[in-house]
Amino acid sequence: MKKASMILHKDFIIGKVDKRLYGSFIEHLGRAVYGGIYEPGHPEADEQGFRKDVIEMVKKLGVPLVRYPGGSFVSGFNWEDSVGPREQRPKRLDLAWFTTETNEVGLHEFADWCQAAGSEVMYAINLGTRGPENARDIVEYANHPGGSKFSDLRIANGKKEPLGIKLWCLGNEMDGPWQICSRTAKEYGRVANEASKLMKWVDPTIETVACGSSGSQMPTFGDWELEMLNECYENIDYVSLHRYYGNPTGDTPNFLASTLDMDDFIKTVVAICDSVKGKKHSKHTVNLSFDEWNVWYHSRQQDEEIWKQDKWNRALPLLEDIYNFEDALLVGSMLITLLRNADRVKIACLAQLVNVIAPIMTRNGGGCWAQTIFFPFMHAAHFGRGTALNTLVSCPSYACQDHDQVPYIDAVATLEDDGSVSVFCVNRDMEEDFQLEIDLSSFGQLSIKEHIVLHHDDVKAINTEEHPDNVSPVAGPGGTMENGRASIRIPALSWNVIRFC
Ligand code: AHR
Repeated sequence: MKKASMILHKDFIIGKVDKRLYGSFIEHLGRAVYGGIYEPGHPEADEQGFRKDVIEMVKKLGVPLVRYPGGSFVSGFNWEDSVGPREQRPKRLDLAWFTTETNEVGLHEFADWCQAAGSEVMYAINLGTRGPENARDIVEYANHPGGSKFSDLRIANGKKEPLGIKLWCLGNEMDGPWQICSRTAKEYGRVANEASKLMKWVDPTIETVACGSSGSQMPTFGDWELEMLNECYENIDYVSLHRYYGNPTGDTPNFLASTLDMDDFIKTVVAICDSVKGKKHSKHTVNLSFDEWNVWYHSRQQDEEIWKQDKWNRALPLLEDIYNFEDALLVGSMLITLLRNADRVKIACLAQLVNVIAPIMTRNGGGCWAQTIFFPFMHAAHFGRGTALNTLVSCPSYACQDHDQVPYIDAVATLEDDGSVSVFCVNRDMEEDFQLEIDLSSFGQLSIKEHIVLHHDDVKAINTEEHPDNVSPVAGPGGTMENGRASIRIPALSWNVIRFC
């Protein structure tokens, strides 16, 4: 067994954990909405057609914020199509995903669904085919109390009270050539600035998120952030980051090291934001919204086949990645990375929530079940609250394809207001357990409350409707606690939550 040590001190403060770090994402894409959260006629459907079993799973996962309605979808979407009497809503060709959007579920229905699921809406506006005028109109529709064209339309459509949407994305991935009406950084920065100004003039309580690069692998990454922030810095509140990882070559140690890249991505964007702040002599700090993150690669080939056979159909089964155990480990490590940067990453959205690259899967007419990645997210969302704390870890590291030095133990901790401490940790070692000594003496009297472990002997193990618990958390081996020092066994290749109180 290998050895590692960790010093955890109550003063190793990173920052307050914003609950919006545990956001997720529902796009009008594939079976996320139609056949996912919404399936009228299903035995579990409520009077609005929403699946109650899915709502229960979302509540169990613990998602305080859901980004909506896209994604790439939003860059060609007219929000007006999605409100008013359902039978009068138009069917539209969606050029982002080559399907037909029926608009059966729109803004009012989604707001109701979010309320039922215990979440808030994070609404993305279309800055692809549209611009500041429509951005202004939808904020008026959603948030203005009444007495104006769009607020009165909302009331006429059945919602007397404003929807009160506090967080708005200024478009989506506008740097991407695949995006409907992508823009240059300067063009986008200008339009985002003007849209955000008008939106905040309508409702000064809202916050806005400007599009960063659609990934750190983009050739324009860095320049894009710098140029667009130069245009809109003072009028926006967050910059978005998006990143998906995959393991197409089956190199697990290299795949599990992807979070070194994610950490670097975050730190680079923070540095750019702060350099613009300095250059502009600004008092305003722009923070980060990591509003698309996950593993995504399993379904890409399959999607090409679907488009060949069934383009323009409604609710095509797109992006239905089936997640395995190693994916859950990386998702755990991504959550650790987000928490380790909680001083600047205030919002994050696991992309996505149901059926589309999702922790929750459904079968049309059938059941719903948790994919492997559900569990680390659920643990972090429930126990990763309060203040994020740095951990000083000494452990051996390994070299892999993309990185020279990858620590086997990846960890972070949180301290809740009631004094309880949770340590989140991934052991990246394929072969060996670690005996982890944790110095917690600065916290006074603590004892080990619980050790939760997610492990499977097969890195490719998955959950299915028939075997939903194949990969699921169990009680870990735990350990001993003496004079403020814990000694815990961390199994090879595992996600761990160690809770002290
Ligand atoms: O989450 C799936 C897609 O990934 C989103 O629509 C887009 O923003 C990103 O490229």
